[in-house]
Amino acid sequence: MANQGDSPVNQGRRRFLTATTTVVGAVGAGFAAVPFIKSWSPSERAKQAGAPVSMDITALQEGQQLTLAWRGQPVFVSRRSRKMLDVLPSLDGLLLDPKSDNSDQQPKYAQNGTRSIRPDIGVLIGVCTHLGCAPEFKPEIKPEPFDPEWKGGYFCPCHKSRYDAAGRVFKNMPAPANLPVPPYHFEGDNTLVIGVDPSNAGAA
Ligand code: FES
Repeated sequence: MANQGDSPVNQGRRRFLTATTTVVGAVGAGFAAVPFIKSWSPSERAKQAGAPVSMDITALQEGQQLTLAWRGQPVFVSRRSRKMLDVLPSLDGLLLDPKSDNSDQQPKYAQNGTRSIRPDIGVLIGVCTHLGCAPEFKPEIKPEPFDPEWKGGYFCPCHKSRYDAAGRVFKNMPAPANLPVPPYHFEGDNTLVIGVDPSNAGAA
């Protein structure tokens, strides 16, 4: 029987697999993934007006983050590992608002230990509460130049504010509050909708 390995059909399949791998690879690149996500987003005018935006989080791997735009602001969507979640309670004593008592910073349904609906998926507005810079996602639990005891989270390079992986700000930082959590909900397991609370999901 002839070897079909180099047939046009198989070459086409190989190209398809390469393209698929490239897309998944882009997810890990953070900001580089934004154009990919934008293909699911409404028009710029609709976003400015506050229209909800949705994204498929299937390809988002543990320790990765995607950024999408909603109301002209970046929204950070991360998939947090068990390890990242387990460390959160141990940080409470170092944080300014560990219980998310400031109700301006998140909806009621995100006023919990992970500041989220699903513990594994973090959803935060990526604007530092000090002067509005974009905090950097530093998910790994390892010594960092700005903190030898780093347990994963966000670091704002502008004036060195630090937040944990739930967006809770550490004490004695320039930033005065936790990163905001936007309204959001899930449709099924893998579609995240930013801009609509769970209680309003499905409303006309
Ligand atoms: S803007 Fe983030 S610390 Fe100043």
